[in-house]
Amino acid sequence: MYRPIVSFALSLVALAFVAGCSKQEVSFSADIQPILNKHCLECHAKGKQGEEKSGLNMETYAQLMSGTRFGPVIVPGSSVSSTLVRLVNQQADKTINMPHDKGKIPDAEIVLIKAWIDAGAKNN
Ligand code: HEC
Repeated sequence: MYRPIVSFALSLVALAFVAGCSKQEVSFSADIQPILNKHCLECHAKGKQGEEKSGLNMETYAQLMSGTRFGPVIVPGSSVSSTLVRLVNQQADKTINMPHDKGKIPDAEIVLIKAWIDAGAKNN
């Protein structure tokens, strides 16, 4: 007899949680930079192989946004069009997915990267 009430209450809690999360903006310095530092900087920093080969340095926001020698890898407002997202999502060829030779980064981190790009990829 209490079941429907309990599950109703639980769904309210879940809704409140989702609403609370979506209001909070993803921050470049607090959320995104630590992910890049952890998984990408060992190759995408000055003098490292990823930077040497592609020109992509992720040490600062400005460098990340300027992309590779061929242009940007992030399209502000559109995670689906962003090369960086396609590579970390392992949607490209095995030989070019990122990070190289290491397997996929955690889904929760990919979700954050996408949310940050979709919100405009701001330097926040
Ligand atoms: C073990 C070294 C290594 C790590 C770690 C690494 N990369 Fe790379 N990355 C490379 C190399 C080398 C290239 C140059 C192109 C190639 O060889 O595929 C590259 C190229 C790229 C490119 C440009 C692809 C293009 O369009 O030319 C992107 C975007 C990229 N990496 C994103 C990332 C992200 C995001 C991470 C962290 C999640 C990461 N990489 C971690 C080595 C690495």
